[in-house]
Amino acid sequence: MVNGGTAADTASVQGDDGQRQAENDLIRGKIEINGLNKIYTSGKARFEALRDIDLTVEPNEFVTILGPSGCGKSTLLRIVAGLEDYSSGDVLLNGDPIIGPGADRGMVFQGYTLFPWLTVRENIEYGLKLKGVPTLSRRGLSSYYLKIIRLEPFASAYPKQLSGGMKQRVAIARALANRPKVLLMDEPFGALDAQTKIEMQEMLLDVWEKEKTTVLFITHDIEEAIFLSQRIIVMGANPGRILQEFQIDLPAQRTAEVREMPEFLRLKRELAQLLRHE
Ligand SMILES: Nc1ncnc2c1ncn2[C@@H]1O[C@H](COP(=O)(O)OP(=O)(O)O)[C@@H](O)[C@H]1O
Ligand SMILES: [Mg+2]
Repeated sequence: MVNGGTAADTASVQGDDGQRQAENDLIRGKIEINGLNKIYTSGKARFEALRDIDLTVEPNEFVTILGPSGCGKSTLLRIVAGLEDYSSGDVLLNGDPIIGPGADRGMVFQGYTLFPWLTVRENIEYGLKLKGVPTLSRRGLSSYYLKIIRLEPFASAYPKQLSGGMKQRVAIARALANRPKVLLMDEPFGALDAQTKIEMQEMLLDVWEKEKTTVLFITHDIEEAIFLSQRIIVMGANPGRILQEFQIDLPAQRTAEVREMPEFLRLKRELAQLLRHE
């Protein structure tokens, strides 16, 4: 829960207070998925979207699900988000069954989901306002996240004044400002050009370093998966299932040079080969 108390309200609320609040509120989530199956039905038609998925994401972990289009990645993430029901199995967040959407899971999608009539700061504060967090506490948190995504000069701008990459940075800040236990990201950089995509990946790792939140990230981009992740889960299609899991033993500090390392290139080849046969 966000600290809605009066202590933060009486203090001069700047980014520092927001940072303190953000740190106080940190609860990292653990996701446990056991024997998950999902069948879509329409009339007599039956489509097995997910078969027998077992996956645990530890608190603080950055895990990516990598797989071709149509293998059930979004279905899986939507189930964890509580936006989609499932046919059988268990899906738990910190031991509690996921039965619907909740503010404890932050979502960032590919499409820009900012409210066009709200400023950048108002977009970031939106969820906090819904929860009744007092103005000064909201201000502190939004200032902190504006700093983290390096968009302080754009606090009063509207989404239409921002580039695609900037909009996604605001979407990430808005998700984090709610202090979710996990951050769920579905191809968030899929619509961006190559250079912006790389900048966004570096920024996301920067944010994750600071926040150490649990991230479940989805992509079909092999290099993106390797660069970002501590662990990659590769899925295949028809039915959607887990093929293989890779522990990524690259330096914790993921600089541009990491992309040239022999281990990075080896993983890239191995993953490409695995997906080619899918
Ligand atoms: N609401 C739905 N009804 C029926 N089939 C669906 C529905 N949503 C997704 N699917 C099917 O499930 C499969 C997995 O979809 P999705 O999870 O979106 O895959 P991905 O995100 O990996 O591209 C696809 O074949 C898709 O057509
Ligand atoms: Mg998808």
